[in-house]
Amino acid sequence: MMSYLALKHIHLTAVVLSISGFVVRWLLMLADSPLLQRRLLKVLPHVIDTVLFASAVAMVVISAQYPIVLSWLTAKLVGLLAYIVFGMMALKRGRTKAQRAAWFVAALAAFGYIVMVALTRNPLGWLG
Ligand code: HEM
Repeated sequence: MMSYLALKHIHLTAVVLSISGFVVRWLLMLADSPLLQRRLLKVLPHVIDTVLFASAVAMVVISAQYPIVLSWLTAKLVGLLAYIVFGMMALKRGRTKAQRAAWFVAALAAFGYIVMVALTRNPLGWLG
């Protein structure tokens, strides 16, 4: 059985890879780079996000802190959904680059919110 601490390290590594990968892909999109069509760049983000989410679920199960019970975990889960949806709009779905830029800022804000909630363990973050 993997230790809680190991899972937390994996979780944090996936967090860093996820946001850096998102920023890199967004800049490539902005530059109309053909690199975006590379298989690796299409598959890797899904692998990283799966690891991010799976490590989170494993920690929640091990520590028996279920999202419905703990409001900060629920807030992280909702934040994660927002990060994913805003990220999709920023990379693909936004019609113009101006729209994609706005979604990019929204995705970064969602990500920042999740980190704040993770550090403070409070859905209101430093306000709570
Ligand atoms: C983009 C998404 C996510 C980001 C950026 C993120 C960020 C973080 C960070 C920075 C920590 C370390 C907090 C600390 O050092 O005290 C952490 C820990 C943790 N996260 Fe996440 N997280 C994400 C998704 C999730 C989700 C969806 C869940 C579950 C609903 C989750 C559950 C946890 C748990 C249980 C810990 C360990 C808390 C502890 O024992 O200290 N995370 N996360």
